Amino acid sequence: MSEKKLYLVTGGAGFIGSHITEALVKRGDRVRVLDNLLTGHRKNLEHLIDKIEFIEGDIRDLEQTRAAMTGVNIVFHEAAIPSVPRSVADPQLNHDANVQGTFNVLMAAKEAGVKRVVYAASSSAYGETEVLPKQEDMPPSPLSPYAAAKLFGEYYMQVFTRVYGLETVSLRYFNVFGPRQDPSSPYSGVISKFATALLTEQTPVIYGDGEQSRDFTYVENVVDANLRAAEAPQASGHVMNLGVGRRITLNGLLEEMQKALGTNLPPEYREMRTGDVRHSLADITRAQQLIGYEPVVHLPEGLKRTMAWYKDNLDRM
Ligand code: UD1
Repeated sequence: MSEKKLYLVTGGAGFIGSHITEALVKRGDRVRVLDNLLTGHRKNLEHLIDKIEFIEGDIRDLEQTRAAMTGVNIVFHEAAIPSVPRSVADPQLNHDANVQGTFNVLMAAKEAGVKRVVYAASSSAYGETEVLPKQEDMPPSPLSPYAAAKLFGEYYMQVFTRVYGLETVSLRYFNVFGPRQDPSSPYSGVISKFATALLTEQTPVIYGDGEQSRDFTYVENVVDANLRAAEAPQASGHVMNLGVGRRITLNGLLEEMQKALGTNLPPEYREMRTGDVRHSLADITRAQQLIGYEPVVHLPEGLKRTMAWYKDNLDRM
């Protein structure tokens, strides 16, 4: 029997999951991916497919989740329906994937004797806060079914640690962006939308006045934090922010991207989205202390790499 740890990445064919999978493969680890290909894509893993075990299956199904968990040591739970407006439009799907699916992952992990589950939690749990930056001890105030579901997942993580001794770490992601983020749905992340609009000379759309702000986090920082969270001894049972600690408005972001691409396409302003948070900014002290996290790629460099990737991959969008 192999001595090497087996890692399971749920949602490993998705945007963030595929980057975690890639990093594990690069390290020489054994990796299994569980993905139902609802928002993930085979093409995200095509360069790795002979180096991983791929299971097409669904975390909404406990049996399928159990089957994928056999022999696993560490889980990165990235599988989700990751969108605030999509959760408003389809709260049942949001609940089934993000709450029931997360519960199934924990049940199966507990039964299989998994050591640790690292969970993709969300900054949306905070809702509006009176002060910025947002700190983990602020009371959560979810504004959308998505935010509520992701928060529910955190509570389940902590309860499985307290009650069953299953180690868990919840990373509250702040607006992750980078290569392979799918721009094709109306629910896609804003940087993927802006990048593809500008590169194809379409009008970018801004919901609201564009003065809402976000702490955009390049995906490489997120991968690094996940690998640390899987190992760090003191991290179990904790929730921590995973951002950069800087924010930019959407108007400012679009301007930066236009400057970098040499375009000047005036945006179309539409009505603000239901469930949208006004400002978002992470205090990253806890992640620095507990897992030794430090953001390595900041927004300008992240945007540069991301736009270069969309330029090279426009034909596969
Ligand atoms: C939220 C969470 C984030 C989570 C993500 C999952 C907050 C603060 N952040 O992101 O942690 O990972 O859900 O999807 O709750 N917008 C436009 N034009 C577009 C697309 C979006 O103006 O074409 C606007 C949105 O209205 C929003 C901002 O851009 O104000 C960011 O939107 P999006 O990228 O969808 O992420 P959030 O909803 O902020």
